[in-house]
Amino acid sequence: MMDLDGLVDPDRGWNSPRIYTDPDIYERELEFVFGRSWLFLAHDSQLPKPGSFVQTYMAEDPVLVVRQRDGSVKAFLNQCRHRGMRICRADTGLSKTFTCTYHGWSYDLEGNLINVPLEERAYHGQIDKSRWSARKVPRIAHHKGFYFGTWSEETPEFEDYLGDMAFFFDALADRFDAGLEFVPGTTKWVIDCNWKFASEQFGGDMYHVPVSHASGMLALSDGPGDDQPTADPAWPGRQFSGNGHGSGGFFMPMITVPPENEFRREAYEWLVGREEEIVRRIGMDRALKVSNHHTIFPNLSWLNVGGFQTMRVWHPRGPGSIEVWAWTYVPRDAPPSVRTEMRRWTQNGFSPAGSFETDDGENWTEIQRILRGFQARRSRFHTGMGLGFEERDAHGLPGLSNDVYAETAARGFYRRWHDLVSGRPWAGIQEADRAREAAVSPTRQG
Ligand code: FES
Ligand code: FE
Repeated sequence: MMDLDGLVDPDRGWNSPRIYTDPDIYERELEFVFGRSWLFLAHDSQLPKPGSFVQTYMAEDPVLVVRQRDGSVKAFLNQCRHRGMRICRADTGLSKTFTCTYHGWSYDLEGNLINVPLEERAYHGQIDKSRWSARKVPRIAHHKGFYFGTWSEETPEFEDYLGDMAFFFDALADRFDAGLEFVPGTTKWVIDCNWKFASEQFGGDMYHVPVSHASGMLALSDGPGDDQPTADPAWPGRQFSGNGHGSGGFFMPMITVPPENEFRREAYEWLVGREEEIVRRIGMDRALKVSNHHTIFPNLSWLNVGGFQTMRVWHPRGPGSIEVWAWTYVPRDAPPSVRTEMRRWTQNGFSPAGSFETDDGENWTEIQRILRGFQARRSRFHTGMGLGFEERDAHGLPGLSNDVYAETAARGFYRRWHDLVSGRPWAGIQEADRAREAAVSPTRQG
């Protein structure tokens, strides 16, 4: 049995670098973390009709997500039960059945095996097809247009799993009367880093922004400008942590920050015209306070600040690599010219060659490269920023939060990670959560 104690200590604020490199830990993550969490599958807009499907992954496992004839969504392992070939090789499309390209076994929209070639001659009519369906994802949840799935029967219901993070997720998912739409096309690329660097950072690390993105911000603005939050150390902002999820951002002076350049002027003006709608749906307080970086544990992240409308999953590919699958989301009823601006501006900042994306990836790949060193893997990392200064239900935000410059979200992320990777049952995890919640009072902890 592997010793999993001494890997992270969210109470004192440190991590062992081993968690980013050890193949045995990675194998446990696949089973106990990804296998027992709710993982993002698809957005409604990607599955417009019965028979619409997308191919995605739950960690390393390929899955097909399919709109059924009754409008529901089901998912199953994209692996043929004959010899394990991928059942469907298209990324997305519309179909009535899925036929394996190796020997031709066919499956219906639910993943049931419905036809095997040469059934009479080759199998003498004796194969019981009902026993050879694709492995089905047993639990699917739908939350305001977003589908999630889990392999585990013991994982809490999705709404409990999301907890206070719904406040932040709904500020995105529920913002517009007509809802959101994913712009067609998934941008995919590989970053040679552990998945936790990306998930943790997007879950509220604003500390890196003024340093890592300094040149990008200068290059994309009309000048240095001192009116932006990251240029002012006193600008208010909060970081949230709950159930392993995280969110972090500055409180913005307006519902959308005015662009410093002309690249998204039309999109900005269109959004300003939506102020009444946004405020009616999510409230002025939330419209001003919920922005920037977010992660739903373990690996769904998005941005909603500065016009960067990107959402992505960090699919793990071994301890030292991830495949990023990213989408640009737009309000469903945005006119074509506004959508074009939103799409271009998002791609400009966050895409394989995006001005800010490359800053983030450069940090993560360099850390991963350094961790090839034997000595480099022996020194703990510091995750103690703002430790002891957490507050509960403060500044108009639910749950546990801290100043925007804190590592409360990172500590919460690693705490949940450790709970799961160590194989602790979900019932025990929830009990410990309740005890921890009681320990942090609404007043500041010294
Ligand atoms: Fe799919 Fe043989 S592997 S039909
Ligand atoms: Fe960044």
